[in-house]
Amino acid sequence: IAFGEQQEALVVRSWNAMRKDAADVALKFFLRVFEIQPSAARLFSFLRDSNVPLDKNPKLKSHAMSVFTMVCESATQLRKKGKVSVRETTSKKLAGTHLKAGVIDKHFEVVRSALLDTIKHAVPEMWCPEMSAAWGEAYDHLAAALKEEMRLLT
Ligand code: HEM
Repeated sequence: IAFGEQQEALVVRSWNAMRKDAADVALKFFLRVFEIQPSAARLFSFLRDSNVPLDKNPKLKSHAMSVFTMVCESATQLRKKGKVSVRETTSKKLAGTHLKAGVIDKHFEVVRSALLDTIKHAVPEMWCPEMSAAWGEAYDHLAAALKEEMRLLT
């Protein structure tokens, strides 16, 4: 089915419900990533170079927030234009950052699973298959756009 107002609303509504606990949600999201794929922690320079415990690391939260807000923006783009493009100004830099860090396709799958698991636990009363599908699709389009930019750099 096409990505319409209903799909966008499922993403935006659940994100609005989660935002008040954004810091906690962000932390759980990353703990889930590292639970599924412990080696992924090594990709993050601010974790390699730091003795600050995970839950106190502001940069971890910032990456999680970037993922959540960009997937939300992706949902809005999908509804409006039927496609997703990472903003011109940021996309090359963003692709370069991930390429340099050693992020590969497998990591995008791990982050996808962790994202959906986190939302499911953050808003269990809202969670339904349609919500899962909407977040999944918005994420897939964003990840595809980012991966394509990464491919163009290699
Ligand atoms: C950096 C977004 C997926 C690992 C960044 C940055 C953004 C971002 C905006 C720049 C600075 C920051 O906010 O920390 C995204 C989005 C993703 C995504 C929107 C999914 C669509 C991934 C995945 C991994 C990953 C799958 C690997 C598990 C990293 C690393 C950095 C980074 C290692 C550099 C952090 C550092 O060492 O300073 N990402 N990211 N990202 N991302 Fe992602």
